[in-house]
This record gives sequence, C-alpha cells and structure tokens, in this order.
Amino acid sequence: MRFPALPDFPWDSLTGAAAVARGHPDGVVDLSVGTPVDPVPEAVGEALRAAWDSPGYPQTWGTPALREAAAAALGRRHGAGRSAVEGLDPDAVLPTVGSKELVAWLPTLLGLGDGDVVAFPDLAYPTYEVGAQLAGARPVRVGDDEPLPADARLVWLNSPSNPTGRVLDAAALAARIAEARALGAVVAADECYLGLPGPGVVATSVLDPVVHGGDLEGLLAVHSLSKISNLAGYRAGLVLGDPALVAGLLQVRKHAGMIVPRPVQEAMTAALGDDVGVAATRDRYDARRAVLRPALEAAGMRIEHSEAGLYLWATADEPCRATVDRLAARGILVAPGEFYGPAGAAHVRVALTASDERIAAAAQRLAG
Ligand SMILES: Cc1ncc(COP(=O)(O)O)c(C=O)c1O
Repeated sequence: MRFPALPDFPWDSLTGAAAVARGHPDGVVDLSVGTPVDPVPEAVGEALRAAWDSPGYPQTWGTPALREAAAAALGRRHGAGRSAVEGLDPDAVLPTVGSKELVAWLPTLLGLGDGDVVAFPDLAYPTYEVGAQLAGARPVRVGDDEPLPADARLVWLNSPSNPTGRVLDAAALAARIAEARALGAVVAADECYLGLPGPGVVATSVLDPVVHGGDLEGLLAVHSLSKISNLAGYRAGLVLGDPALVAGLLQVRKHAGMIVPRPVQEAMTAALGDDVGVAATRDRYDARRAVLRPALEAAGMRIEHSEAGLYLWATADEPCRATVDRLAARGILVAPGEFYGPAGAAHVRVALTASDERIAAAAQRLAG
C-alpha cells in the first residue's frame, strides 16, 4: 500500500498540554478545537427524528426542498442592507458531508493533480493543504497582500478567517477573484463563518454580485451548518455557485457515493429555515468574545483581527508552544498558531466554543 504522504495529525501533539490543563482543580476550559457545545435547535432534531424511516438511497444532489431552502436562506441572511446574495439557482446547490470533506477532496474532484497549484491563505485551516496533497497537487501559501502564483488552478479564500477572524471586504474579495480569473483558476470561498460576524462587522459572500460582477463562472462558495446551527455532529455542508462546476461535482460525487444521509438532509432543510437560531448563536459568540478578548488583553496578550468568526488570534510575542503551556498551567487549553502555518509561530488560537460558565472561568483564571 502507498498511502498519500500527509502531515502528522496536528492535534495529537497537544496531548501533553491537554493533560496539564485537565489537571486544574476546577476542570479544564478547552478552547482548542472549535467544536460547538450549545444544543442542536429542537426543530432541527425533530426534522431528523421524523425522517428516521429512510430505507432508500438518498439523492446525492439533495432534495429539491433542501436546495431551495439553501438558496433562500443565503438570500435572506446575506441579503438586503448588508449585501445582496439574491436569485441563487437551487439547481446550483449541492449538499456535502460537512464542509471538511469537500475541502479535502475538492482538488481531486476538480481533476487537479501533478503540477497543479492549489493556493490558500498563509494562515489557514490545515485541510486546504491536505486537499492539495491528496490530489497530488502542489499546495502554496499566499499572504492576503501577495500576488497569486501564475500556475494556480484553485484558489481558496476564507473570510471570516480561521484562525485569524479577519474579514476581507467586498473590494478585496473582488480583486482576488479578478486576479484568479485572469489566471483561469477556480476560486473556492470557504464561508463557514459568514453567519458569525462580530457586532457592526459586514462579512460579504463571494456570491454577492458586488463581488463577482454578475458572473459566477469559476466561483464556488462552501458553506457549513456546523457552527451557525450547532450541527457539527450531523456533518452538514453545502457547495454552490457556478452551475457548470456544481454539475461537474455532482457527477463525480454520484459515482463516488459522497451522499448526505436523508435524515440529515431533512435536518439541514429545517436549520436553513431557522434564522432565529442562527441569530441566537451569533449573539452567544459575540457575548463570549466580549468576555474573553479583554481578559486575554489584561493578561498581557495582543489580539489581532478577530473581528468575526469563532476565534481570537492572540500573541504574547513568544513561541506559541510557550503560550500554550502557560495557559495550560492555568487550566486553559488553546491551539498553537503553528497549526495554521509558519506565520502563526508566535500566536495561539483561542476558540469561543465553550459554555458561558467555562468562558467566565477562563476569564477568572486569566485575571488570577
Ligand atoms: C475554515 C474551515 N473550513 C471548514 C471547516 C470544516 O467544518 P465542517 O466540516 O464541520 O463543516 C472548518 C472547521 O473548523 C473550518 O474552520
């Protein structure tokens, strides 16, 4: 067997710090992996339960109701007054088994391979690199202000960003898309945190005509219900955009059996109708950010970006593992910035995914 050469799974290297943090007499505050802890909305769980008797194969394309709900939700949630994602074609929507699966396999599904460049932000979710490696393509990190490599075939954008919480405005997104189009590269915008902008922050989708100029060609948006609807356990993602690209992905995914289970499709449809739940989630994370950010600053850390999304990007101007260890000694577990690229060597990523009680405990420990 020749399995693809992939990096070590980064979280395995956190075992020592995790053991230290767990030894705190009042228990660990785990702010490392961004995994939701708040409940699944009741109506979403009911939709899942109601679809339990699903003996037949589900459609890879998703039910028409799911695709319509997705197009409508994006229009409503990222529509008038903020931006104008309108008139999306439900036929150009495809459900995915969470968005990580799509991120990991997109270069392969697009037929990329040897010699093809997959570009992604210099500080990024690790799976963009893994996806390039799985396809045998070449992963290249590109800073937000650096030009794209001339041989880029796929360009990942991620706003709001994991790990930095940085938001690219419509002009910056449009400029990147124009640059990629000039190279003939596909742009995939990972928008899994788009529904979680901080107070007063406008996070624009690449599906907004202000960004794409009225033409979706070569453009994909990747969405996830994991964070905005607390559905990480359901594995519920979406990819949508250029109808020709989505049709191509559908074709390959049908052959490959990359299908979202029918009960999950029903749950997704319910979640896409639940704007109140998404707003409540956003408010919760805003409140946690408002507690944790000043607490980290008062403890001597500098916070960069972090205006949206699920993370605080913090530095104590020392190697990230030293910060991880110091916080672990106080019972707080965070992720070392080097997980997200060499540019993160002096940063840590602090997730807001803990209960209000645990976030308050973290603030108290930081003050102690
Ligand atoms: C930037 C980014 N993209 C994609 C994902 C994958 O999310 P999921 O597979 O739960 O949809 C994550 C998860 O943390 C992420 O941070």
